Amino acid sequence: MLQDHAQTLLQIDDAVQRYRTGSGDVGPLVLDHVSVELKPGEIVGLLGRSGCGKSSLLRIAAGLAFPIEGKVSCLGRPVTGPVDGVAMVFQSFALFPWLTVLANVELGLRAKGVPEDEARKRALRAIDLIGLDGFESAFPKELSGGMRQRVGFARALVVDPKILLMDEPFSALDVLTAETLRTDLLDLWVEGRMPIKSILMVTHNIEEAVLMCNRIIVLSSNPGRIAAEIPVTMPHPRNRLDPEFRQMVDRIYALMTKRPAPVPTGSATFPGLGLGMALPRVSTNTISGMIEEVHAAPYNGRAGMPELADSLQMEIDDLFPVAETLQLMRFAEIADGAIRLTPAGSRFADMETDARKRLFGDHLLAYVPLAARIRMVLDERPSHSARSSRFLEELEDHMSDEYADRTLKSIVNWGRYGELFAFDEGSETFSLENPQ
Ligand SMILES: Nc1ncnc2c1ncn2[C@@H]1O[C@H](COP(=O)(O)OP(=O)(O)OP(=O)(O)O)[C@@H](O)[C@H]1O
Ligand SMILES: [Mg+2]
Repeated sequence: MLQDHAQTLLQIDDAVQRYRTGSGDVGPLVLDHVSVELKPGEIVGLLGRSGCGKSSLLRIAAGLAFPIEGKVSCLGRPVTGPVDGVAMVFQSFALFPWLTVLANVELGLRAKGVPEDEARKRALRAIDLIGLDGFESAFPKELSGGMRQRVGFARALVVDPKILLMDEPFSALDVLTAETLRTDLLDLWVEGRMPIKSILMVTHNIEEAVLMCNRIIVLSSNPGRIAAEIPVTMPHPRNRLDPEFRQMVDRIYALMTKRPAPVPTGSATFPGLGLGMALPRVSTNTISGMIEEVHAAPYNGRAGMPELADSLQMEIDDLFPVAETLQLMRFAEIADGAIRLTPAGSRFADMETDARKRLFGDHLLAYVPLAARIRMVLDERPSHSARSSRFLEELEDHMSDEYADRTLKSIVNWGRYGELFAFDEGSETFSLENPQ
């Protein structure tokens, strides 16, 4: 191995990623020349908004996917598939429901041909380490979310990996459980009780990144590029109330809410501009509630995101999709960590329900191409109805099935509120039945 690479555990050089769409065409640019290096002793965080390509990058690091351009090497070798010495923890736990905790943890070792005795011994050790002692014979469905994710960790740790990759491992857990698990993992890390030399973790949670990481890589969206790389030098354990901690969190918020550079005209692949825009899952109640809150004192139309999150008792990270939705519909603008209502947003706040619905419907038609599309199809068809699969397939040309599904659910909710169309769950059909 070359001397200057000896210190690098994982190296991604200039990775470019695009996916094929459902119809086989080449989709938009997801990762645009992204380079990431992982050195021993560091926890590196990948932070960015939903859909910016975090999971895509992690899958590349894991050898589960390959970039269309760029080079990846891991532990001194080019990556051609899943690498021995690299383990992954997923947000969704990914456990086998029909296997006990012990069997779930042993599975990877048995698949590698480790003899039964040794696999058992190592699995018990991993189970012990991660605090699952006594749950060996339980089945996943008998466990709480936190315990299930501990199984996820044990399964990763049991192979004695040098590199641990984690894709939002705490985001499916409730706040307290997530914090306990973070702390436990950090303790093991700081005390050197795991064989792991380096961790690369995806998160959309800024505080989590500042709490855990030695370095935070912020990805921009559409396409995913490295927008900033921020070293975090505070020693562990870190205190969320520490002014230095707060400052760093605020700095990253400001960075992530910076107005994006204007899109060059003619770049038809920019997904934010057309039908291919993935919509976040935000209810109209949340949208109205947020507009009201920002409109009222003490904000009077402009609110800093951290303060707003506090007053709404929301996690600030859950605020982003709501703020983005308001921005998309031109009810607010986001800049430098603050959200400011537009004149339309202020008018909305002062209106009665019926007027609100009309204004919302107007903005939906004007600014959300999918809404206009559905309405046009319904207007043109003699039956004034269309099955949702009609639009779902169109969406799947632009985005993954999961995003398409989420986008459709949002447009149903928004379109109903704005009385642009009706939707029947049973027959999964849009129609103009109820609206005027
Ligand atoms: N297998 C796939 N096929 C087609 N498109 C995909 C695939 N995986 C991801 N994408 C698209 O690539 C983009 C980036 O997705 P990715 O899952 O990497 O983002 P992310 O940052 O992890 O998002 P989130 O925070 O919501 O998990 C999205 O637009 C997504 O629709
Ligand atoms: Mg992801």
